[in-house]
Amino acid sequence: MKIAITGKGGVGKTTFAATLARLYAEDNKHVLAADVDPDANLGLALGFTEEELNSIVPIAKMRQMIEERTGANASNTFFRINPKVDDIPDLYAKTCNGVKLLVMGTVETGGGGCVCPEHVMLKRIINHLVLRSDDVVILDMEAGLEHLGRGTTEGMDQFIVVIEPGARSVQTYHNVKRLANDLGVKQVRVVANKVRGEEDEQFIRERIPEADLLGFIHYNSDVIDADRQGKSPYDFSEIAREEIRSIKAKIDSEAK
Ligand SMILES: Nc1ncnc2c1ncn2[C@@H]1O[C@H](COP(=O)(O)OP(=O)(O)O)[C@@H](O)[C@H]1O
Ligand SMILES: [Mg+2]
Repeated sequence: MKIAITGKGGVGKTTFAATLARLYAEDNKHVLAADVDPDANLGLALGFTEEELNSIVPIAKMRQMIEERTGANASNTFFRINPKVDDIPDLYAKTCNGVKLLVMGTVETGGGGCVCPEHVMLKRIINHLVLRSDDVVILDMEAGLEHLGRGTTEGMDQFIVVIEPGARSVQTYHNVKRLANDLGVKQVRVVANKVRGEEDEQFIRERIPEADLLGFIHYNSDVIDADRQGKSPYDFSEIAREEIRSIKAKIDSEAK
């Protein structure tokens, strides 16, 4: 199962991604979670301590490794666009609560045509992750899809947009859907988070086609408490965890 999670900032991508990853780990699956958000905080949500996370260098910042593998350096503007990456997850991923975390970091891209070595490296690693044999790969991404090439997206089973009951985040769903379409993504599905009640559910149902709607996660102060304490929402909010378990069941049942 290869899942990319996207959506507007603050909607709950990381909360959902981390909880989903831990639920798959609970099933004894080999789970690799990759943090591709520039504002990387998937680690805390998985249950890593701040100390553990401080020792992790994002892949995009591993200048020496990237230079070695791509052959790029200050005096050489030409570099390999197919650097070796297959050993990267095993070398750099750190495990917590049964989930392997790879912090990718991001590169400031100068638009779609950017081909700096860091960007080539990240793109190639993501591509590798999607084709790799881990049972479950979960990408926690920002809204932009620029790290994804067609080869990557074609290997992806689910593209999940997390939204809140709001016009702006519904807009993001439409944008992602259009972009994903261009990239050949099979399915773009929605998880509606921070839902406060009947009216919010209705708002979502009126705007998201039923076939695209994976489920709801309700607004939950335990989730906020978990974040305030830098802890995993999986451990803190049974209700949110069980709502996400139902969403996972839907993902799994449709994957068969
Ligand atoms: N269901 C929810 N109810 C209440 N707060 C939530 C819920 N889901 C997420 N949050 C809070 O919203 C904030 C953003 O969540 P986060 O998962 O970091 O979003 P993103 O990764 O999309 O930026 C966090 O403080 C988180 O605790
Ligand atoms: Mg996030």
